[in-house]
Amino acid sequence: MLRNQRLNDELENEAADSPWARPRDLVAQMTIEEKLGQLSQVNGGTPDLHDAVREGRVGSVLNEVNVDEVNELQRLAVEESRLGIPLLVGRDLIHGFKTIFPIPLGQAASWDPSAVQCAAAIAAVEGASSGVNWTFSPMIDITRDPRWGRIAESLGEDPHLCSVLGAAMIRGFQGASLEDPESIAACAKHFAGYGASEGGMDYSAADISENELRNVHLRPFKAAVDAGVSTFMASFSDLNGVPASGNVFLMRQILRDEWGFEGFVVSDWESIRELTVHGFTANEREAAKAAAEAGVDMEMAGDLYRRLIPELLEAEEIDEQLIDAMVRNVLRVKFELGLFERAYTDPSKYPEPLNAEHLELARDVAAKSCVLLKNDDQVLPLSKQDLQSIAVIGPLADDGYEQLGTWVFDGDSRHSQTCLQAIHSVVGDEAQVRWVPAMRTSRSRQDEGFALAVEAVQQSDVAILFLGEESILSGEAHCRASIDLPGNQEQLIDELSNTGKPIVLVVLAGRPLTLRNVIDKVSAVLYAWHPGTMGGPAIADLLFGVESPSGKLPVSFPRSVGQVPIYYSKKNTGRPPSHESICHIDEIDGKAPQTSLGMSAFYLDDGFTPLFPFGYGLSYTRFEYRDIEVSSHVAIGERVRFSATVQNVGERAAEEVVQLYVRDLVGSVTRPVKELKGFQRVRLEPCESQRVCFELHTDELAFYNQKMQLVTEPGHFHAWIGSSSEPELWGEFEVVAAS
Ligand code: BGC
Repeated sequence: MLRNQRLNDELENEAADSPWARPRDLVAQMTIEEKLGQLSQVNGGTPDLHDAVREGRVGSVLNEVNVDEVNELQRLAVEESRLGIPLLVGRDLIHGFKTIFPIPLGQAASWDPSAVQCAAAIAAVEGASSGVNWTFSPMIDITRDPRWGRIAESLGEDPHLCSVLGAAMIRGFQGASLEDPESIAACAKHFAGYGASEGGMDYSAADISENELRNVHLRPFKAAVDAGVSTFMASFSDLNGVPASGNVFLMRQILRDEWGFEGFVVSDWESIRELTVHGFTANEREAAKAAAEAGVDMEMAGDLYRRLIPELLEAEEIDEQLIDAMVRNVLRVKFELGLFERAYTDPSKYPEPLNAEHLELARDVAAKSCVLLKNDDQVLPLSKQDLQSIAVIGPLADDGYEQLGTWVFDGDSRHSQTCLQAIHSVVGDEAQVRWVPAMRTSRSRQDEGFALAVEAVQQSDVAILFLGEESILSGEAHCRASIDLPGNQEQLIDELSNTGKPIVLVVLAGRPLTLRNVIDKVSAVLYAWHPGTMGGPAIADLLFGVESPSGKLPVSFPRSVGQVPIYYSKKNTGRPPSHESICHIDEIDGKAPQTSLGMSAFYLDDGFTPLFPFGYGLSYTRFEYRDIEVSSHVAIGERVRFSATVQNVGERAAEEVVQLYVRDLVGSVTRPVKELKGFQRVRLEPCESQRVCFELHTDELAFYNQKMQLVTEPGHFHAWIGSSSEPELWGEFEVVAAS
């Protein structure tokens, strides 16, 4: 059971400059109570916290961000506890600290690693100014189910996009060196499989074959290790019958043995106690033993380790060497953060949170995260010169709180700049703005406000609707079985569209919503997610053409919830559908013989395509793709080259996300019909063209085979370059065995 832990005697001769030397020496001086203290994370404000810290019974505190209190806790730890070990201070900075950025799913829609890295760096420096030195982010669970409320926190459906953006977040939080006072430790969560919770319901079990686990769900976690992430969080979900917090295969075999991870693993909130609720262990004692042996180093918000490990040691059911190894893992991160040299926080040494530069970056990321889904007759951008009046409708137009999104503990809605405020400031006196909320909340089932809204729209040149979901409808434990616009919103859109006025729908939401019932009733749709503090100005910049939309969907948008899970990188099946092979339920004759249907993989009522595919997003200009070139043959170990010309053939400068997809035609394990392998954001002036080039090492074509070996198999491949996961330009190449 001690596999993959450095044992005490192995470390004896470790050189003084080894990262294990100081943890080793410190552990050698610790009592068992002090060791277990280092493995305990306690919630801020717990009644006897000060005494517990003074007595060395706490290694980490979470959810305490009052800097004076944090400094006092650090003082008790450093100056009054016997060994003077500083505390890790953890907080969920999921999309910002005080300056709130778009929800992670929105940030993922930017397809911009540098923007995502910047957002994390700002969260880190703002959090660090309050004494936070560790965050439980990024969440890199792959999810393909928009019913799951935590899709809001995710980076979407695709392992490549999620890996690249997750690594960017880690670089943002951890900076060039963890010792830098502006850096904080990151945490890759939730390891693993949480995003595949059955039925999109939070906390439910996930059943994922090992092959799928390795080829899809684990890839972003491996990328996190490669990016140097300091900590991992074990999920509280059940993976293939073994809850992740007691899962030896995940935490010992994969994380430590195969990947060589040297940081520490924290449990999720009470996830060790819950091993018994799952029915995996019979009682708390067994749960503590199972989690420790599986590789959970620190317990979040529980006291099982502290209470029960002494008994387990006494009964010789657990080896103290295991506990020593766990403590060293935690101490190593504390040393790497430089906490022994710098436990206290002086906020005056940090930039003020919410400063102009942070707000400007939040505005930039929010603008990049919005996805233009529809724009009939170029109704957008609006020209304020040509408009005399604008109706602004909807409960989310002027709600600084709801635009922030889920997982916002420290952001204050009084700093939010709303869409209504931003529209007023853009149009000034040039156009009249008629504002009608129409509904009390996004869920209201009343329609008393509708008549006023209809009147405002009738009297205006254009209507901008701010609809969608309030923050509380997504996030942890907030799943939905129906993902339509909630409440009476569809009816409101119906009534407003009957006015015949052009209608622009701006959706603020924590997940993809099913828009099928409304999409044909509006002229334009801008999907803004929950855009954060600066959502208003960012959206107004897009509506009025100061910026052109450049976001792309990080997740497929289903037509109906019944299509879920729907994602672009499907397996082909033996009977792939085509537009010709399918028919609609309404086209079937009465008493039709059984063979009259298409005999391929589709729904009679919803076909097989999403409403909007992964990678999709319009711009105010048009980009033309041509002249794809792909290396024709490469040997294993070489690089494949791909290029295409992209030209801005419209009239506005804009950014485009150029996407590269590959299909491995034959594999010893079947391969998806398309896999994203690269992407680049390019900015092009009108008429400007650029040759966009990608290179892939053949290792980047590797996948886990039936024996769970990571292999690149020789054979034929297709490649596409384009503006979404349904690109038109394609080429082919062959990978041959190395000579
Ligand atoms: C969540 C984690 C989070 C932790 C601490 C749990 O409920 O699952 O993602 O980091 O709480 O707030």
